[in-house]
Amino acid sequence: MDHFTYKDGVLHAEDVSLVDIAATVGTPVYVYSAATLTRHFKLFEEALGWAESHLICFAIKSNSNLAVLKLLGDLGAGMDVVSGGEYLRAKAAGLPGERIVFSGVGKTREEIALVLDGGIRQFNVESEPELQAISELAAARGLRAPIALRVNPDVDAKTHEKIATGKSENKFGIPIAKARDVYAMAAALPGIDIVGVDVHIGSQLTDLEPFEQAFLKVAELTRALRADGHDIRRLDLGGGLGIPYERSNSAPPLPIEYGEVIKRTVGDLGCEIEIEPGRLISGNAGILVSSVVYLKEGEGRDFLILDAAMNDLVRPSMYGAYHDIVPVQEAAAGVEQAPVDIVGPVCETGDTFAKARQMPPVAAGDLVAFRSAGAYGAVMASEYNSRPLIPEVLVQGDHFAVIRQRPSYEEMLSRDSIPEWL
Ligand code: LLP
Repeated sequence: MDHFTYKDGVLHAEDVSLVDIAATVGTPVYVYSAATLTRHFKLFEEALGWAESHLICFAIKSNSNLAVLKLLGDLGAGMDVVSGGEYLRAKAAGLPGERIVFSGVGKTREEIALVLDGGIRQFNVESEPELQAISELAAARGLRAPIALRVNPDVDAKTHEKIATGKSENKFGIPIAKARDVYAMAAALPGIDIVGVDVHIGSQLTDLEPFEQAFLKVAELTRALRADGHDIRRLDLGGGLGIPYERSNSAPPLPIEYGEVIKRTVGDLGCEIEIEPGRLISGNAGILVSSVVYLKEGEGRDFLILDAAMNDLVRPSMYGAYHDIVPVQEAAAGVEQAPVDIVGPVCETGDTFAKARQMPPVAAGDLVAFRSAGAYGAVMASEYNSRPLIPEVLVQGDHFAVIRQRPSYEEMLSRDSIPEWL
């Protein structure tokens, strides 16, 4: 459930009309609902209610706006970060280091140093050389860095190949069969404090069975590591729970059911449980509002040309992802729908949001909204075709605020410089 509903025939974010937001801020614009973000976070809190100690670390990569992070941080969320930049965002939103976990396969020495100096809950380590680097940098500071090894359980997440991470052919994690040896190596390093085990098998999972398989392997490994003498007290089970992009025909498992899988597989180990959900918290808490620029009649097909493009929302062109696209002015009941190709203005055929999508009649100047755009939307945007990044708005009840300004053309151009010798 989200808080984007029609009221008096106009799509609203909570109690604010999207027509009003578009008139004030312009289009394209991302709009987020504070109530939906809060609701989704609380669903995970409920799902892990059985675990004596747990931390829900929001995966910042899905939506890293400072206002979103502050809102979730105030609710008690931790954060999962994958770069120095994301770490600084979490800090800027007021998160203490003890609530930030640092994941990622290629942490640089600069990033490791930054995080050691600023404070961190744990590094999720993905290779032996990374372990060495963390140990060296921590020992040089007189510290022992808290770490979990990210293991690769070789489980098929049954999701899009570009976002599956738990198979042995993927670049992520340490093969689970090798994990005991790497833990032994870690235990001998001066700058390392082993605190747990980490796993993340992929994103947009719509079936719980791969989670179950992976968590069972983690449970077995945890028992073996304890027998080896390691004090495994924390399990980070990653993110990945999918959301219904196509409302008419999909209903992925609920957080409460996911929580039951965790309880059933690792609940008896007495570990602190961490999870790293991104999409399920932010995805359906955001929409992208765009204006129709032109209607163009093609041969055998019609095109709806929008002012939003693949540089603003890349998921359809990058993953062939489906997003519901609806008119902001509700179509009259019983009105006939017709198929259109919904495209952006970027000079690539790949700049296509949907093909032969059934839509009610819309005219140039009308507003449309892409649903489920709060995760991996704004964060993946670029300025391709020299289109400035688009603004972000947060709605709470009957008021809204611009939480990222639309840059001017001057600001965009001012980042380049022409050397004096040209
Ligand atoms: N933890 C780790 C280590 C991750 O790599 C990810 C996502 C998450 C947590 C959060 O996963 P989530 O709960 O959001 O599924 N750009 C793609 C998704 C990439 C996901 C990358 N890793 C998309 O638009 O579908």
